[in-house]
Formats: sequence, structure tokens, C-alpha cells
Amino acid sequence: MKKIVLLVAMMAFIGLAAVAFGNPAAPAGDLKVLMDGAKKPAVTYSHAKHTVAVPDCKACHHTWSGEGAPKKCGECHTAKAEGKKLDMKGALHKNCKGCHSDMKKAGKKTGPTGCNDCHKK
Ligand code: HEC
Ligand code: HEC
Ligand code: HEC
Ligand code: HEC
Repeated sequence: MKKIVLLVAMMAFIGLAAVAFGNPAAPAGDLKVLMDGAKKPAVTYSHAKHTVAVPDCKACHHTWSGEGAPKKCGECHTAKAEGKKLDMKGALHKNCKGCHSDMKKAGKKTGPTGCNDCHKK
């Protein structure tokens, strides 16, 4: 009986581990986001810090199915807006700046909202 309980517990653990680690590892280091033809300096941010601060991957990778690697934002959000889709600048500003300013208004610790704090030389 004990053995079965242990086995079930082990299988549950492996199952959880697969959910946690089986998907593409989120990038551990800093990421640079730069759109084609950008004039401002590239925006560098820590993907790892964000996956802790924002546990829901889909808060940013909003079209991701949860399987395989999420597509790059720029594969859909091109330099010019298409139909309902925002352009790259609009999408990233709404996502990044939008969250930071909402959290700031709510008095929470968050990321920068000033232009040059993101577009650092
Ligand atoms: C929270 C971070 C963040 C803040 C704050 C921010 N941006 Fe951006 N911005 C981005 C990201 C990410 C992109 C898309 C990737 C890229 O090209 O840098 C972008 C793109 C752009 C682009 C298009 C690309 C280019 O360089 O020509 C411009 C222009 C721009 N931002 C201007 C501004 C201005 C002006 C402000 C302040 C009013 C500002 N940004 C504040 C993150 C930010
Ligand atoms: C706060 C926003 C945010 C959150 C939360 C987030 N990501 Fe990301 N992630 C990004 C951005 C922005 C990029 C860069 C995409 C690009 O270059 O177009 C990225 C890139 C990636 C990449 C590399 C894709 C490539 O082709 O280079 C992977 C893999 C990834 N994220 C997985 C994850 C997973 C898994 C989670 C949840 C544990 C997660 N992300 C949570 C914003 C986020
Ligand atoms: C597979 C295509 C695809 C990818 C990849 C994608 N988007 Fe989008 N995005 C869309 C479409 C289509 C819309 C407009 C319809 C909608 O809101 O779903 C949109 C809308 C948005 C909006 C506006 C939502 C609103 O409430 O107005 C934001 C912000 C956004 N995307 C940010 C991002 C960011 C950041 C990434 C990368 C981490 C990303 N998107 C990746 C297709 C995509
Ligand atoms: C849903 C909310 C949310 C979104 C979306 C988000 N951030 Fe943040 N950001 C945070 C929080 C919370 C922190 C503070 C995390 C910490 O200090 O541990 C932060 C911190 C930062 C910092 C300072 C710490 C660091 O990483 O160096 C930068 C720069 C930053 N964010 C840039 C971005 C960019 C660029 C994007 C879009 C690609 C983005 N953020 C999207 C919530 C968000």
C-alpha cells in the first residue's frame, strides 16, 4: 500500500514537473526588444524578473496556446498597423507601459514609464 502511495506521489510530481519545465524554458537572461527601423535605443529588460512578477505567460504572449515556443510579437505586430492589430510600437507600448502605469497608479512596485528609462542609450 505504502509503495502505491509513493508511486502515485512520484507520478504526480513528475506530471507537475513536466507542466512546469516541459514547455520551452522562458529566457533566463535579459532580452532586447527592437523593431526594424527603430530610431530609439533598443529596450532591454529582464524576462526572468517578469515571469516572477507576472506569472501568467499569456498576459504578454496573448495568442500563445501554451505549447511550443510563443511567436515573437513582431511576427504579427508589424511596423504598420493592419486592421484591428496594433503596430509593433503600439502593441509594446500598450503592453509594457500600460501595465507599468496601471500598477504605479495602484501604488505597486513596478517598471519604468519614462521614455528614456526603457529606451536606454
Ligand atoms: C515600458 C517601456 C517603454 C517606455 C516607458 C516607452 N517605450 Fe517606446 N517602445 C518600447 C518597446 C518595447 C518598443 C518596441 C521595440 C523597440 O523598437 O524598441 C518601443 C518602441 C518605440 C518607438 C518605435 C521604434 C523607434 O525607436 O523608432 C518609438 C518612436 C518609441 N517607442 C518612443 C517612445 C517615447 C517617445 C516614449 C515616452 C513617451 C516611450 N517610447 C516610452 C518600450 C517603451
Ligand atoms: C511581461 C511580459 C512577458 C511575460 C509575462 C512572459 N513573456 Fe516571454 N517574452 C516577452 C517578450 C516581449 C519577448 C520577446 C518577444 C519578441 O522578441 O518579439 C518574450 C520572449 C519569450 C521567448 C523567446 C521567443 C523567441 O523566439 O525569441 C520565450 C520562449 C518566452 N518568452 C516564453 C515565456 C514563457 C514560457 C512565459 C511564462 C512563464 C513568458 N514568456 C512570460 C514577454 C513576456
Ligand atoms: C499570432 C499573432 C500575434 C502575436 C504573436 C502577438 N499578437 Fe498581439 N494582437 C494580435 C491581434 C490579431 C490583435 C488584435 C485583436 C486582439 O485584441 O486579439 C492583438 C492585440 C494586441 C494588443 C491590444 C490588446 C487590447 O486590449 O487592445 C496588445 C497590447 C498586444 N497585442 C500585444 C502583444 C505583445 C506584447 C506580443 C508579444 C509578447 C503580441 N501581442 C503577440 C496578434 C498577435
Ligand atoms: C503585466 C505587467 C507588466 C508587463 C506587461 C510588463 N512589465 Fe515590466 N515590470 C513589471 C513589474 C511588476 C516590474 C518590477 C519587477 C521587479 O522589480 O522585480 C517590472 C520591471 C521592469 C523593468 C525594470 C527591471 C528590469 O527588468 O530591468 C523594466 C526595464 C521593464 N519592466 C520593462 C518592460 C518591458 C520592456 C515590457 C514589455 C515588453 C514590460 N516591462 C512589460 C510589470 C510588467
